[in-house]
Amino acid sequence: MTIASSEPHAAPLPATRQTARINGVSCPLADAALAVTDAGVARGDGAFETVGVWGGRAFRLEDHLDRLEASAAAIALDPPPREDLLADARAVLDGVAADAALRLYVTATGSRIVTLSALPERGTVRVLSPQPAPWIQPPAAYHPAGAKTMSYGPNMTAGRLAVRDGADDALLISHPDAWILEGPTFGVVFASGGVLHAPSVDLGIVDSISRRTLLEIAGDRGIEVLYGHWPLAELATADEVIISSSLRPATAVARVGSWTFGEHPIADLLDRELRKRRREFSS
Ligand SMILES: Cc1ncc(COP(=O)(O)O)c(C=O)c1O
Repeated sequence: MTIASSEPHAAPLPATRQTARINGVSCPLADAALAVTDAGVARGDGAFETVGVWGGRAFRLEDHLDRLEASAAAIALDPPPREDLLADARAVLDGVAADAALRLYVTATGSRIVTLSALPERGTVRVLSPQPAPWIQPPAAYHPAGAKTMSYGPNMTAGRLAVRDGADDALLISHPDAWILEGPTFGVVFASGGVLHAPSVDLGIVDSISRRTLLEIAGDRGIEVLYGHWPLAELATADEVIISSSLRPATAVARVGSWTFGEHPIADLLDRELRKRRREFSS
């Protein structure tokens, strides 16, 4: 089931402002090209970040740069100097007042790519199909655990299998324990009895920055937050399941597998405040 997104955009990014910067050289996004021999293309060998731009300003950019450096370290790559990435981000954002997507990639060949594009137009995710994700392992077992690498094939496959099952996207669960993990491109929390439950990053999931913001909001609003490991069956008694990512709102999920969820006051509160923080943060 897909419902059109109601996310209000400050102003869509004009096509003329869709820009790429490759190793410090800017060009229109449509003309950007990377050599087919680049390890990012040939092997998906690199790390990346997707940052929400709200009214021309990149939300929590320093946190995204921290995570990019952590991802590079997790796959044994040296990241480029942070000031180079910051200079690229400033260059593509110069004079922009729109909502947009800022993406940063560093590849094993040493390519540094920053793009600014329009926010993706996608349907709201309401129905999730649980899908096993044996490639997500705790850091003790798997060095790249939690890294946002350019090798997203397994995640995207899980999403397609979920769609084949009649859902909008996947809820990734660990194998063989069936712990609740994350979505292929979003973080997940659930509410039970007024307490927000956040699968902990020691499961090997991405340390979602939008989810961090939601958990900070919850803390500020006096909502108790628990971090831990919960089996999928825990959702049988959950009140709300909420997903988020840097380019999406906080979204209440209506169904996971055969479990349905009705009212979602916590999701509504978190979403309202998330939108506000994205508009009002001071960089
Ligand atoms: C696997 C995965 N988990 C979670 C997230 C959400 O992270 P963020 O909130 O930092 O965008 C993403 C975002 O792309 C992701 O790919």
